[in-house]
Amino acid sequence: MDHNLLQKYNVPGPRYTSYPTVPYWQKTPPTAERWGELVSDTFAVTNSKQGISLYIHIPFCESLCTYCGCNTRITVNHKVERPYMEALLKEWALYLQVFGDTRPLIREIHIGGGTPTFFSPAHLKELINGILAGADVHPQAEFSFEAHPGNTTDEHLEALYEVGFRRVSIGVQDFNPLVLEIINRHQTYDQVKHLTEKARELGYTSVNFDVVYGLPQQKVCSMTTTIFQVINLRPDRIAFYSYAHVPWVKPGQRRFTEEDLPDSMKKLAIYETCRGALEMAGYVDIGMDHFSLKTDGLYKAFAEGRLHRNFMGYTDTQTALLVGLGTSAISDAWWGYVQNEKGVEAYYKRLEAGELPFFRGHVQSREDLILRRHIQRIMCNFETRWDGTGDVCGGFYDGLERLEEMEKDGLIEINPFHLRVTEKGKSFVRNVCMAFDARLWADIPQTTLFSQTI
Ligand SMILES: C[S@@+](CC[C@H](N)C(=O)[O-])C[C@H]1O[C@@H](n2cnc3c(N)ncnc32)[C@H](O)[C@@H]1O
Repeated sequence: MDHNLLQKYNVPGPRYTSYPTVPYWQKTPPTAERWGELVSDTFAVTNSKQGISLYIHIPFCESLCTYCGCNTRITVNHKVERPYMEALLKEWALYLQVFGDTRPLIREIHIGGGTPTFFSPAHLKELINGILAGADVHPQAEFSFEAHPGNTTDEHLEALYEVGFRRVSIGVQDFNPLVLEIINRHQTYDQVKHLTEKARELGYTSVNFDVVYGLPQQKVCSMTTTIFQVINLRPDRIAFYSYAHVPWVKPGQRRFTEEDLPDSMKKLAIYETCRGALEMAGYVDIGMDHFSLKTDGLYKAFAEGRLHRNFMGYTDTQTALLVGLGTSAISDAWWGYVQNEKGVEAYYKRLEAGELPFFRGHVQSREDLILRRHIQRIMCNFETRWDGTGDVCGGFYDGLERLEEMEKDGLIEINPFHLRVTEKGKSFVRNVCMAFDARLWADIPQTTLFSQTI
């Protein structure tokens, strides 16, 4: 990559798992009644055809990974499992009331965290059985969970397989012991190898590895070794995330200094070297930071232009309704979003009062929906089209004007009714989307809200 382009475009920017991005949601969330209406309207139109998606957040971790940007609660007390599971089922029961007499058709479940495998296999099974008791399962359902190699047992894999899970996402991050030590993750290559092989032996059809570049003390040569170890285990998918350094939100990241981090040039060199190795090994770069073998469903969705992006990242299934259960979980009812209380106690308190436990949200305007669609397409397909009938708005045309410089730099091509991100522009896809982020331009942040785009 051209280093001048890197300097020019490496600015703070969102990852666009939603539009508008969370800091730009309305100041006041929708009322419970309004949210209930949005959910039940979307449910009524889409449940019987597409089904719905569920995201379940389990925030507990036994120790803090210092690099982690997620919502977590550190504890070694496993007595928290049962009350938390009961709270999740209570929240689900409130959604079942919103759905009325129609049973939800579950298309997708993803358990994330925190550390989902903090829960015992028996509790995870009880939780999923409790959820499915009031629901039907879509014939093409995709159930997945995040597995920490340090504490995922064969029993976890077996228990979740028995209740329909066929995908597992393993939190590898890096194999270099020096890096793992700094980020406080205690796991080994052998544990990851065992988990991968065991999952396949049981019948899991897709194994994903999360790998992060830009972590403290990462170097091009050590990361190349890691990526060859990854290739050796042949995961079906790799989420190759750029480390998001946000110590003002995650003070755990202050446990190492900025000097420990590779600078943006080194970070890019790590990325490019690893990307080359992955491509030579048959992985396809299907979207921002995501690689897939051609045999995996994610690649097929990419090739057929069906890739979708939501709060869980890229998925190959599209549902208009995503219900998020648990602390900090975000729900998306197409016409609006809400996010749950982040603290476990606050979350319990709201449920005890019989309330849906969200504390913020956003109802989409017509312009939001138009811009969301274009941003989605650019993030997923590296292109978007329009015909001027209901798919354009002022914010869209402003975005095209803002892209003049990127067009001159050869990062995009704009033709009548069509915008395409070029090969050279793919690393800058977040910047392209930012041009269409009307809410960001209307209120440019005075403090740093987002991590760097590259
Ligand atoms: C919610 S985390 C949980 C992972 C899983 N519980 C585990 O510990 O293996 C999901 C993924 O987000 C990614 N992640 C977390 N913090 C990040 C950060 N600051 N920058 C980039 N990626 C991050 C990691 O790759 C991680 O595996």
